[in-house]
Amino acid sequence: MSKNAEPPPMLFDLDYESVKGRHASLVKQIQSHDEKYYTDDAPTVSDGEYDALRQELLSLEEKYPELVTPDSPSQKVGIAPAKGFEKVKHAVPMLSLSNVFSEEDLDDFIERVKRFLGYATDDVIEFVAEPKIDGLSCSLRYEQGVLIQAATRGDGQEGEDITANVTTICDVPQKIDADGVPDILEVRGEIYIRRDDFTKLNEQQEEQGKQPFANPRNAAAGSVRQLDSSVTATRPLRFFGYALGEVSAPIATTQWGIREKLTRWGFSESKPAGLYTSLKQLMEYYQGVLETRPDIDYEIDGIVYKVNRLDLQERLGFVSRAPRWATAHKFPAEQAVTVLNDIIIQVGRTGALTPVAVLEPITVGGVVVSRATLHNEDELERKQILIGDHVIVQRAGDVIPQIVGPVEGRRSGMETKFIFPHICPVCGSEAVREDGDVVRRCTGGLICGAQALERLKHFVSRDAFDIDGMGAKVVEQFWEKDLVKTPVDIFRLEERNKTLEEPIQTWSGWGQTSATNLFQSINDRRSIALDRFIYALGIRQVGQVTARRLAQTYGDLDHLQDELAQAMDIQSISYERLIAIEDIGPSVTEDLLEFFAEKHNLEVLADLKQQLDIQPYEEPEQLDSPVSGKVVVFTGTLQTITRSEAKAKAQSLGAKVAGSVSKNTDYVIAGEAAGSKLKKATELGLNILSEQEWIDLIG
Ligand code: IVH
Repeated sequence: MSKNAEPPPMLFDLDYESVKGRHASLVKQIQSHDEKYYTDDAPTVSDGEYDALRQELLSLEEKYPELVTPDSPSQKVGIAPAKGFEKVKHAVPMLSLSNVFSEEDLDDFIERVKRFLGYATDDVIEFVAEPKIDGLSCSLRYEQGVLIQAATRGDGQEGEDITANVTTICDVPQKIDADGVPDILEVRGEIYIRRDDFTKLNEQQEEQGKQPFANPRNAAAGSVRQLDSSVTATRPLRFFGYALGEVSAPIATTQWGIREKLTRWGFSESKPAGLYTSLKQLMEYYQGVLETRPDIDYEIDGIVYKVNRLDLQERLGFVSRAPRWATAHKFPAEQAVTVLNDIIIQVGRTGALTPVAVLEPITVGGVVVSRATLHNEDELERKQILIGDHVIVQRAGDVIPQIVGPVEGRRSGMETKFIFPHICPVCGSEAVREDGDVVRRCTGGLICGAQALERLKHFVSRDAFDIDGMGAKVVEQFWEKDLVKTPVDIFRLEERNKTLEEPIQTWSGWGQTSATNLFQSINDRRSIALDRFIYALGIRQVGQVTARRLAQTYGDLDHLQDELAQAMDIQSISYERLIAIEDIGPSVTEDLLEFFAEKHNLEVLADLKQQLDIQPYEEPEQLDSPVSGKVVVFTGTLQTITRSEAKAKAQSLGAKVAGSVSKNTDYVIAGEAAGSKLKKATELGLNILSEQEWIDLIG
């Protein structure tokens, strides 16, 4: 017991006055802990101690109901402020990077950049090359030179406020006292832990009987997400700056200039770095760093190349979630040899049967690996892997470990072939391979428990409902106890819990605080954006991009459902509209229609609508431009930019770029030698702009 929790006296030894006194004392103690926990993020009692106090309060109030006052903590369950960190909307999205794995890929990247900008192959573009640090990204916001907020990347649009923790990092300047610092300056970079500090940290952990961290990255992530920043302060975190977010005035004209400015302003920069102009130079730099990698003080998992000129970066823009002007060149995966003890079959969300290798545990690239994916039936056949084989295991970055192949020379003759099952190991339904599909799928659909469970995990995952405190393990726990079988059960959980003989807060590993927090995070997600909602449904082939397109096209859920119901008739206009959506081809259409034709799915949707407030789609704010929502067509040869750049620019301003002219076209931009499209536009009396008029229009 800590000094903050008084030892509870035995209830039956107390006279009524003492009971009242004890009750008042409990109320005070709990309120004070709540405040420390929620407001200061600094709990001073363990979950167990806190729960004991609450439990005692509840028992007292049960016996003496007259003691229950409206401000008793017992009346506040479920409405306490959310545990954890506040959300922060990024002024400029935090992007990730595309990857290249070979010289050839890198050559393609350079050529792509040139093509997009309309450069010839022998024109020169300068790139900054610098190490890719294996940590976690963070955005630091300075106003008038003072650090006012630090945020994690989160989903790129919205992260978590970790200011209190970041102020404990020694090489994050709290104040930038220099000329030329813009009023608003966001420095983006990586929080990491050096190798030597990591070794010391793990020694300390073990001395204190705590679990050691798997690698420096995990240790850094765990430290940044501490609710108590005095714990973070004891962790050897560091920071490298490598990019900018929102700035009220430019600080440089090149990426190299940004590096120099940030160094001058007190930030650390990753080294070695250089400026290079050819594939050959970039590859030499890459090889050089790869060779010295073991001597570098911190873990790096590759090289990042960035177009140096910021005006070119601006023109290149980004696609999906990654900039066109930068890429990461990943180092080759680390490998090790171990024994394949068994192969098991996992059944995924869409029924796919995936063979998984059960390995004699082995350390690969600093992480202990005991499972690895074998992808599918054909892959197993192609690699000729037998149970009992010595196999080469490889791991690259955060990617799931893979089996490269068997070491045939080490076979003893006792190895056995794995027979791929034709029935689902979970529900016993037939598992079939459709023509042209590499995957064998369970046909059990809704009766297959494995599929339903995986769908639930997807439903709560980060890019879907993102329910804090409800990870895969918790979903499994609720599933096994029959508490959550369909998505709507999640939103009924709090009510259901009240009727349970053994409510969640009494389970091992749980307490009142963690249960309350979970219900709070569930309640926080009752209002959800339509695109996230669609994505969360886990419809086959409907990823985030398709979900967003559907949301954008139909606006709200009822309209989407009506349209899809109509579209079951392939002669209908609704069907036409559906297949006209960009990136939605016949195969996605089939999966969508199948999903919305299924009675059970419609029931789940109806139930969810009762529990949720599904927000109609809203165009992102930055799309408030003169061409937002307009349909534009480019024709002929453009002089100042390439067609891809023009198209990307128009899309980034919210315009829809169409390939052909119709009466729905708002603008036709006619370059040199425009032909039939221009003719048609003239006939239809459309708005025809020259390249210059278009540039003037979009500013
Ligand atoms: S630039 C808009 N530079 O790698 C591009 N990122 O895999 C911003 N990273 O999310 C990223 N070292 O967290 C950049 N020198 C470096 C980096 C770096 C590590 C991380 C960053 C990013 C991730 C993408």
